[in-house]
Amino acid sequence: MAAATLKVTANSLEEHWMPFSQNKEFKTNPRLVVKSEGMYLWDHKGGKVLDGSSALFNVPCGHGRAEISEAVYNQLKLNDYTAPFQLGHPGSFALAKQLTKLTPKGMGHVFFTNSGSESIDTAIKMVYAYHAARGDHKRHRFVSRERAYHGVNIGGVSLSGMVRNRETFPGVMPYVSLMRHTHVADNKFSRGQGEHGGVDLANDLERIALTYGAGTIAACFVEPIAGSTGCLVPPKGYLERLREICDKYGILLVFDEVITGFGRTGKAFAAQSFGVTPDLMTIAKALTNGAQPMGGVIVKDEIYDTVVDTAPEGMIEFFHGYTYSAHPAACAAGLATMDIYEREKLFERGARLSPYLLDSIWKLKDLDMVTDIRGYGMMAAVDIKPGKVPGARGNELQKRLFWNGLHLKWTGDTAIIAPPLVAEKAHIDELVETLRKTLGDFKD
Ligand SMILES: Cc1ncc(COP(=O)(O)O)c(C=O)c1O
Repeated sequence: MAAATLKVTANSLEEHWMPFSQNKEFKTNPRLVVKSEGMYLWDHKGGKVLDGSSALFNVPCGHGRAEISEAVYNQLKLNDYTAPFQLGHPGSFALAKQLTKLTPKGMGHVFFTNSGSESIDTAIKMVYAYHAARGDHKRHRFVSRERAYHGVNIGGVSLSGMVRNRETFPGVMPYVSLMRHTHVADNKFSRGQGEHGGVDLANDLERIALTYGAGTIAACFVEPIAGSTGCLVPPKGYLERLREICDKYGILLVFDEVITGFGRTGKAFAAQSFGVTPDLMTIAKALTNGAQPMGGVIVKDEIYDTVVDTAPEGMIEFFHGYTYSAHPAACAAGLATMDIYEREKLFERGARLSPYLLDSIWKLKDLDMVTDIRGYGMMAAVDIKPGKVPGARGNELQKRLFWNGLHLKWTGDTAIIAPPLVAEKAHIDELVETLRKTLGDFKD
């Protein structure tokens, strides 16, 4: 550890403009991770830190999985890169096949991207392409939701319902309407799906459809559980009602499963946990256990068939793709990750551990500072009383927690808890004790 410490601190931190970070503050007191293994990270001062958010929800198998790094290394030695346009390599077809074994019935086609943000922009273009292929050129409006997070590319920002992510960037897509978010006061502290507001909130989609003309709505994008804004679990009946309205008016339903995919909700996808099948599904995090950048869009067969079958003979069907779509190393990592999920039955393991996680988190309700707790599967959120500047306490608490030995993702004044699916009960105890102590000791 000493050598790594020396090397890192000797470097200048100035040149790297860090994403979604307080650059100035960070560089005066950096938190650098120099090693990660299993449930833990090690910082540059030698401290051991429990990973309570699966890094950014994307390391459910735990860190440092040798099966994945060996698969990537072997792939790079054999075939480091294949141009993905009009050419292929076996790994992408094998991974797509594995993925479609996990998806809801009839969602049998996968398009690969390199991130969740790219998946969202790809899904937007697929929606346009599908309607165009059917000769329906009137559908140009998209519906999303307040507090939605769909990544940071222009398409995703256009669908975003988080003010900080939009306000600086005025040049977004037009024709986007937002439904109300699903954080309902009556559902405070309810575990799992709240009883209140589901159908009423979903009816926003019908109101928007009837305001603009149902035939102008191309698609409705929702995260089944809104993750980045702090685990807003859909109230009972909400997703079912969205599906009904979409079917009634010919609107495509897109589930952004970038966080909820791969066992976070107890099944492979939230679509299955909630029993509602979308038309398209975006995926990314947890696809490669964080070892390689990769995302994808999974679509109903009808969407693929319509776009592919209606293209003129001899032409490319969908004018979209990335230089690194289906990179061989990412596919190798994805295949190794799918293998771990299956071999270690991690989705079932997460489903079994969920009640323990939620019971433990709910015990924090007695803290004065805690104003709401939500949770489903292996994900939960704790809201704390904001200070004078919204979000400042959350930022401060995130740092204090880290130095106290716990990494958690924070959004504003909300902590998001999503441990790896390989966690043991003792890790949950450690997580909750550290959170309790840090919140309990906190003074501005
Ligand atoms: C629901 C959702 N969609 C999209 C994204 C964007 O993914 P990425 O950061 O890989 O671009 C995220 C990232 O947190 C997300 O939570």
